[in-house]
Amino acid sequence: GRVLVLAGGLSHERDVSLRSGRRVSEALRAVGVDVEERDADAGLIPALQDDPPSAVFPLLHGVAGEDGALREVLDLLGVPYAGSTPVACRSAFDKPVAKTIVAAAGVHTPPSVVLPHEIFRELGAQTVLERIVDRLGLPLVVKPTRGGSALGCSVVRGIPELPAAMVSCFAYGDVALLERHIAGTEVSVTVIDTGEGPRALPAVEIVPDSGIYDYAARYNAGATEFVAPARLTEETAAACAEAALAAHRALDLRDLSRTDLIVDSDGIPWFLEVNVAPGMTETSLVPLAFESAGLDLGVVCRELLDSAAR
Ligand code: DAL
Ligand code: MG
Repeated sequence: GRVLVLAGGLSHERDVSLRSGRRVSEALRAVGVDVEERDADAGLIPALQDDPPSAVFPLLHGVAGEDGALREVLDLLGVPYAGSTPVACRSAFDKPVAKTIVAAAGVHTPPSVVLPHEIFRELGAQTVLERIVDRLGLPLVVKPTRGGSALGCSVVRGIPELPAAMVSCFAYGDVALLERHIAGTEVSVTVIDTGEGPRALPAVEIVPDSGIYDYAARYNAGATEFVAPARLTEETAAACAEAALAAHRALDLRDLSRTDLIVDSDGIPWFLEVNVAPGMTETSLVPLAFESAGLDLGVVCRELLDSAAR
């Protein structure tokens, strides 16, 4: 039957999601799937009730999409979907929660401090920030605990840069994560499970021209060089695959995830975060990982939808 690709939504990553939705819809159509593309707007619930699709491919990024809220609605309506359950999405999407769970599974993750805006305001910026820098050192990375596409993220190299970084972080969320910056190579590992258990695809190495993989480096064609498979020793590549699989399993994820890691100069992968609705745009990592593994995006997505519908 007809499948439904859900994209858009109301998060800051709406435009990215629409691009992801378009790309996946095209890939599915190219392998003969009957696809409807739709925004997650107020008309969604009646539409799902009146004419339910055989399965949904949820591609909303960010809050109220990737955090499991949308999938709760799908569960309530009894509409099957590809990907992880609401509970798993909720843990995966909240960076400090995900870091804690993945660290307990034995994966390194940079030391960090969680700072809600309220506490930041009450205690006074100066005191709080100095104590955090004492604890974590510099440089550090400031990011919203719940968000994506590096929106509101800054790399802070000196204390004077910190207040502005906090402002841009709190523009995107009310809780900040301050994390020790790990120097090394940024890589991303896609995990897929089309029925035989989760398997890691070759790591993709991220080399932004500007040195920082920010929003512009993510979505402007040519702004970042991707190397797939990543230039890693066999041992380090295996450690990255292991880390991504450990994250996928520890968070009880299903079908598809993408884990972002930094590999330090000793070849140790550090877990940054995992995405349950990873970007699928023309410049995104998962389609590149598929290509590098010799997999067709449409075929894999069709398999995930078929197994969801069964
Ligand atoms: N949050 C974006 C869509 C990504 O992880 O690819
Ligand atoms: Mg993300």
